[in-house]
Amino acid sequence: MGFDTISNHYPVDGYKKFIDSENKKHAERKIMKLSAKELKAMSSPLRQSMQKTEFETFQKFGFSAKDKDVLEIGCGAGFGATLISEDQPKSYVGIDVMEEQIALAKAKAIPDFTFQVQNAEELDNFDSESKDVIVIFGILHHVLGWRRVIQHVHRILRPSGVFFVEEPSRILIRTLDFFLRWGHDPAALFSLRELEKTLRENGFLISRRKKYATLFGVFRADKPETKSKC
Ligand SMILES: C[S@@+](CC[C@H](N)C(=O)[O-])C[C@H]1O[C@@H](n2cnc3c(N)ncnc32)[C@H](O)[C@@H]1O
Repeated sequence: MGFDTISNHYPVDGYKKFIDSENKKHAERKIMKLSAKELKAMSSPLRQSMQKTEFETFQKFGFSAKDKDVLEIGCGAGFGATLISEDQPKSYVGIDVMEEQIALAKAKAIPDFTFQVQNAEELDNFDSESKDVIVIFGILHHVLGWRRVIQHVHRILRPSGVFFVEEPSRILIRTLDFFLRWGHDPAALFSLRELEKTLRENGFLISRRKKYATLFGVFRADKPETKSKC
């Protein structure tokens, strides 16, 4: 029995106390910006190298942005945008809720790429069926309404559009928080199984996936050409 799937079962008492105190701390919080510690980690060469590997997995799964309209949700400091720019998309918009991150992304000065401060839970300004490819590198575990984000992603994609998403699981983030005190809101975390279930429930077909134990997963989720009848 793993405590990834049974969230209220923790084999270590200290860990349970830690989770309870984190729950209390986050009870009133709506938007989860990165803590200073996590922001530093996310800007490190190690994170960039990990993101490159994740992008290579997307490419193995058929990622192509060439002549496509691309949206990246939670673009951070723009390292993902730099990787995507090599494909020369028709258009690229990167959004992130943190002004500091968007400033760093803009400083990369990628021609014709647009970066804007925006909450991933509020994507109504993006028209339905207006993008070919949507990309997320590890941000849903910061968003309390992550299921709502997935609904939006499905709405915004054109038929046959593709969603590439990489996410860590609840168990990985809880372990990192326990040791590194990054301070994620436990209410936003999910297991990889929950993520896959939510993708399917919103009409996606998961055509490729790579899971690293139950710790994190990389998925290609396709929006079908026509709506499934079942
Ligand atoms: C773990 S970092 C990942 C950043 C980048 N995608 C990467 O892979 O390095 C999570 C990012 O999500 C952003 N974020 C958190 N909550 C958000 C929200 N509600 N809407 C948009 N972005 C959000 C943070 O500002 C941060 O840049």
